[in-house]
Amino acid sequence: MAIRNIVKFGDEVLNKKCRPVEKFDHKLAVLLNDMADTMYDSNGVGLAAPQVGILRRIVVIDVGDELIELINPEIIETSQETQNGAEGCLSQPGQYGLVERPMRVKVRAQNRHGKWFEKEGEELLARAFCHELDHLEGVLFTSRASRMLSPEELEG
Ligand code: NI
Repeated sequence: MAIRNIVKFGDEVLNKKCRPVEKFDHKLAVLLNDMADTMYDSNGVGLAAPQVGILRRIVVIDVGDELIELINPEIIETSQETQNGAEGCLSQPGQYGLVERPMRVKVRAQNRHGKWFEKEGEELLARAFCHELDHLEGVLFTSRASRMLSPEELEG
C-alpha cells in the first residue's frame, strides 16, 4: 500500500483532459490500489487519476458501501430530477460549494481487468460519479458551483 501525493488547486494537471487507459496491466492495478489508499487516508469519497498527477481516465469512489473502480468511464444516463448540495474536493481542501447534479446517474466503465460493466448511483453516489468524471475532462467543481459556502453555513 502506498499513499500518493494529492495535487492541489493551481496545478495545471487538474485542468487537462485525460487519455483513455489501454493497458490493463500490473501497473494499473498498483495505481488503483494506491488511489484507494490515498482516498481512504484523506477520508474522501472519490479520487481521480489527475489528482495524483496521472492524466488517464481512472476513478475510485467509495461513498460508504463499497469501493468502485472505474476505468474509461462514461455517463450513459442521467435523471431529469436533480439534487442541489454541498460539494468539496480533496484537491481544494476546506472549500465547499453548492453544486446542482442529477439525482440518479448511470455509468458504463471497465474494471481493472478490462471488462465492461454498468453501475447506477443515487444521491451521493450520483454526485460522486459526476464530480470524478468531470476531473477526467479537467473540470473542477468550483466552476460548476452556483456559489461557495462559508464555514458557518457548512456547520448549520
Ligand atoms: Ni475532486
